[in-house]
Amino acid sequence: MATKYISIQEGMDKGTGKVSLRGWVHRERGSSKLKFIVLRDSTQLIQCVLKRDKFDAQWDAIDKLQVESSIMLTGEIKADERAPTGFEVQVDKLEIVHASDKYPITKDTSIEHLADHRHLWLRSRKMTAILKIRSTIFGAIDEYFKGEGFYEYHSPIFQAVQCEGGSDLFHVDYFGKKDVFLAQTWQLYAEPAIFGLEKIYTISPSFRAEKSKTSRHLTEYWHAEMEMAWADFKDIQDHGEALLKFVVKRVLEKHKPEFELLERDWKLLEPTVKKPFVRMTYTDALKILKDKCKMDVPWGKDLRTIEEEKLTKLYDVPVIVTHYPKEVKAFYMTEDPKDPKVVQGCDFLAPEGHGEIIGGSHREHDLEKIKQRLRDDGEKPEEYEFYLDTRRYGSVPHGGFGLGVERIIKWICGLDTIKDAIPFPRTMERYKP
Ligand code: 4AD
Ligand code: MG
Repeated sequence: MATKYISIQEGMDKGTGKVSLRGWVHRERGSSKLKFIVLRDSTQLIQCVLKRDKFDAQWDAIDKLQVESSIMLTGEIKADERAPTGFEVQVDKLEIVHASDKYPITKDTSIEHLADHRHLWLRSRKMTAILKIRSTIFGAIDEYFKGEGFYEYHSPIFQAVQCEGGSDLFHVDYFGKKDVFLAQTWQLYAEPAIFGLEKIYTISPSFRAEKSKTSRHLTEYWHAEMEMAWADFKDIQDHGEALLKFVVKRVLEKHKPEFELLERDWKLLEPTVKKPFVRMTYTDALKILKDKCKMDVPWGKDLRTIEEEKLTKLYDVPVIVTHYPKEVKAFYMTEDPKDPKVVQGCDFLAPEGHGEIIGGSHREHDLEKIKQRLRDDGEKPEEYEFYLDTRRYGSVPHGGFGLGVERIIKWICGLDTIKDAIPFPRTMERYKP
């Protein structure tokens, strides 16, 4: 009969008796009579003990086993408080699946070396913990939107009209045509679809030729976006808040062990689930920055990273800043009916100085106004004809937002850099491996 392998976690849950496990050698040490192997699989670590007298014929190979070798074993599991994870297996049978070469990653490997060996670093305990949380976050975003009656919808990645400003577009050679670039956002191709589906969302890659080398910019990131017909500005903010609460709640339900491994104080995330977010206008944000942080931002200037950081450190929940000056925001945002100098756009800023995680707005639905805003931005409205049709045939109030998935992973996991929030980070300096 074929051996039934169980995960290390399942073995520990069982606690006693015979178990068959398989995985990789995480640590090893030994003497002439004994070999200790810490075995790793996707669920856990466990100490395994091999006695020479049981493995005489195999001892030479066992003695030479290096970290990251893949093995399968059968033995008796029992609780042992001296073992690193509280359990130990006395091994009766061992099969070496692949004896690893000398592993190029050690304890004191530099950050650059780790980046060069990203494909191997992915199996580290730290990256595995982050990637488990990442998986839950993607699932929770889906679950939230499906639960709220949104349809999943997909926009093209090759695009020919810009939406968030032309400066950070990635141009591609499209059979010799040069006016083609990679999506910065799904938005201009999502708005046409709300006339059929009304409520839609996606999670898809977006691309930005960011020349900034910061801890929060990637050139390729995963973008969760929603668009909704008949929405007013408050609906957009409410969905953003409810989505973040939902995602953080799901992660907290499931990932205490991963937070422990990452040394992330998960209690800092609880207010996000339990308390209402702070909402303030841009103008109020400037007042608070002046009064509480001694920072003087002239009205009309966009908030910089340092100002966002200071502002969010005053609160333990995300801050939604609304009604930015028209000049600093994109052409499609509705002017505030009470004050046309500002627009109905919002940025969600994460606590602890992690910065902008969501950008959203109510969309201008008046054809002439939107054409004028495009001209003001130096764009040619003729090139936006397909998009402008959305304002010709049954235009409705609507809005949406985009959430940078790696930005919330960085915040939720408490990471120093966004690069650890994605398996193979793409930045200005790195596109390999
Ligand atoms: O604020 P942004 O540029 O908004 C849009 O693209 C809108 N069209 C979205 C919409 O309304 N459908 O980008 C949205 C979010 C930001 O708040 C940020 O979280 C993330 O995308 N983001 C990045 N994440 C990682 N690396 C980058 N270079 C990012 N640029 C934006
Ligand atoms: Mg933004």
